[in-house]
Amino acid sequence: MMHLKATNRAPEDSMDDIFDQEFLADAMAGLQAQPKALSPKYFYDARGSHFFDLICKLDEYYPYRTEMTLLPEVAKELAGFLPDKICCVEFGAGSLHKIRPLLQHCDAIHGFIPIDISHDHLKTAGDKLAEAFPHLSVVPKAGDFTQPIALVSDSAELSNSDVLSLPRLGFFPGSTIGNFTPQEAIRFLKNARKTLGSQSYFLLGVDTQQDREALHNAYNDQEGVTADFNKNILLRMNRELKANFDLDTFTHEARFNESESRIEMHLVSRSAQEIRIAGEVIKFSQGESIHTENSYKYTPERIIALVESAGWQVVHRWTPADGSFSEVLLVPATDSGA
Ligand code: AVJ
Repeated sequence: MMHLKATNRAPEDSMDDIFDQEFLADAMAGLQAQPKALSPKYFYDARGSHFFDLICKLDEYYPYRTEMTLLPEVAKELAGFLPDKICCVEFGAGSLHKIRPLLQHCDAIHGFIPIDISHDHLKTAGDKLAEAFPHLSVVPKAGDFTQPIALVSDSAELSNSDVLSLPRLGFFPGSTIGNFTPQEAIRFLKNARKTLGSQSYFLLGVDTQQDREALHNAYNDQEGVTADFNKNILLRMNRELKANFDLDTFTHEARFNESESRIEMHLVSRSAQEIRIAGEVIKFSQGESIHTENSYKYTPERIIALVESAGWQVVHRWTPADGSFSEVLLVPATDSGA
């Protein structure tokens, strides 16, 4: 097992630097585990984010286009559930595409706090957004949204901002919640409830597709973009962690796990082989896989059960006629001592 020295970090050290240390520790632990697994959060470097954008343009990938069609409708009705002025907090905000339809159709949103791991990317996207919506205070926050986040205390920028006193609307679109196991999802939703406060709302996008063929096609596209996206994690380890994966010796596989109700992505070794990473040797047998992602699919009933275990309740659900995706609005459960 490899040990990482705890370094004394100056406050000006970049998030990316801290993230590299974490990537190395997580990758080593994941590749030495049985079965082998890596966290899907490592898909999203610049190249991986580009592949994900390409996935969103695929005919087979229904979640993105379905949600983008749904969001303007949601936004038009959203104000009816909210106070006059609210501050929206988006978790894992990325390129800030999904907040736009909300801002276009819902005047209640006066402040916007996008949280994402890459500070530079957020700053650029945030500036663009503030230009398009001049009345909006945009206060980007760099951080790992899978961990509990303090919005107030650790940021001078934020504590100076008047949007902080507004009630909050959490926003977690795209069914990114599907990357978590139900247990992790509950922990995330509980943390979000603490982060957002008792006077809060939460708009959650969840994949509710039940059609097996549509599911299979969405993660096994004809052009092989999803395969490139999946294999990018190997390339990233080669570049950033001095690994020597040969991408051609691994096969992309996406299969539906019925009992867990999730799509699993794997990278399967075509032969017995050894790879090196950060000075260690990792052995693969033929057919052995690295489990790279879970993408859970929920029924409306299961969404209710999930959020209720985390102290929230569903006040409204929007879904298209085919039921393949749902946007749910949550408020803190009344019996949870809020
Ligand atoms: C961004 C996590 C919602 O699970 O569908 C797309 C990522 N993986 N194709 C998903 C993904 C393979 C996506 N999420």
